Amino acid sequence: MKIDSNKSIRIISNFLTPESYNKTAFLDNHILETDENGKITEFHSAPRLFDRSGTIDLRKFIISPALIDTHAHVPQIEAIGKHEPNLLSWLNKHIYTVEQSFNDLNYAKQIADKFFTLARSAGTSTIVAYSSGDINPTHEIFKSALKHRVRIVAGNVLMDQNVPQSLIGNPMSILTGSMELCEQWNKYSNKADTEKDYNDGRNESTQKQNSIKDSYYAFTPRFAISCSEGLLQETAKLAKKYDAYIQTHLNESQLEIKDAIKNHPYAKTYTEIYQKSDLLGPKTLLAHCIHNTDEELQIIKDTESKIVHCPDSNLFLGSGRFQIEKIMDFDITIGLGSDVGAGTSLNMFRIMRSMLYMQLAHQKKVDINIPYYLATLGNAKVLGLQDMIGSIEVGKQAELLLIGIKNIDFGLKNNEASKDILSKLIFTEDYSMQLVN
Ligand code: GUN
Ligand code: FE
Repeated sequence: MKIDSNKSIRIISNFLTPESYNKTAFLDNHILETDENGKITEFHSAPRLFDRSGTIDLRKFIISPALIDTHAHVPQIEAIGKHEPNLLSWLNKHIYTVEQSFNDLNYAKQIADKFFTLARSAGTSTIVAYSSGDINPTHEIFKSALKHRVRIVAGNVLMDQNVPQSLIGNPMSILTGSMELCEQWNKYSNKADTEKDYNDGRNESTQKQNSIKDSYYAFTPRFAISCSEGLLQETAKLAKKYDAYIQTHLNESQLEIKDAIKNHPYAKTYTEIYQKSDLLGPKTLLAHCIHNTDEELQIIKDTESKIVHCPDSNLFLGSGRFQIEKIMDFDITIGLGSDVGAGTSLNMFRIMRSMLYMQLAHQKKVDINIPYYLATLGNAKVLGLQDMIGSIEVGKQAELLLIGIKNIDFGLKNNEASKDILSKLIFTEDYSMQLVN
């Protein structure tokens, strides 16, 4: 089934949707209607008597909003499971080589196809991703995402020091190429609607079938170790000019922090490196933030930058515990990312499991609603797209995850019902998923 651009639909089913950090609604026997653009126009409890003609009966499923992943690396899908329990040696030993391979265009097309096929099959409709350092393979990521009807926020990785020379390229042409990518793909759907003659290799009939046709560019300085002060500053200027996202890594491991400050001695803390280059702001996504001082968290809060928690990756690399209680006290907007390939799966329910296990291993209790909230509405807020995606509500896009799950106790109500369903989704693999958009 497809919610496509030309037809309104009417569904009856049971829905799971986030309301707040601690609350997930379970709404059984509800009717959802969309307009011909896939926007939700009606969502309410089914009356006892209603006109069943033209209504698709999906009551054997539970429907969740599609999941969102706010941190992953496309080329690294080929490096999943290559273990090395330390960030810097893992990058050197396993990662730079797979990113080098991604610069071959045919290989990049294959890998991007694999990545978005896996993402869709895991119920993810929106992904924030890093490419390799090259421009042309990054174009392939945007094209592949559109083909697979996955909303993409992505950028070529910017690096000009402390990585193998073959990954660096010519700094001026990399920035020029970044601008070209940004001009072509940032806020793509707006352009496609207004510019009749856009040309990305798709014909018009393909476009009509795509309910997801928006994409966004993110300027992507890898991390402070691999970027000179000049590169960080230029990147910040360009991101402002184009009103684009910025994504980078911050405070992931102790050795990384030491090395970052050694490379940028004008800063007292790692966060200050980014602050002084003017990289922080509401559209900046900072992955990890495991080892922060209070001062750094205050800077992140004051600049309205976002933190993307990547628990599966942190467990894999032994990076440390995410101080969730403290970061929530600072009232910083938090999202959840797979961080594939340090993360071992694109399935966000698996990432939610890692998030709970990380805290439980330290005797910290985290409400089971929180990871689900982060992977849906929380991630939508990280992107500032909460009026469009992240929950099932009138006015938002119908990007629906159909879940086939057995042994649901329909006698349970409200909180008890949603906790029962979430714990099965997070701690078992005994269900099917189909993304419909
Ligand atoms: N820090 C810099 N690059 C990377 C990367 O590719 N993965 C992770 N997890 N951390 C990084
Ligand atoms: Fe990462």
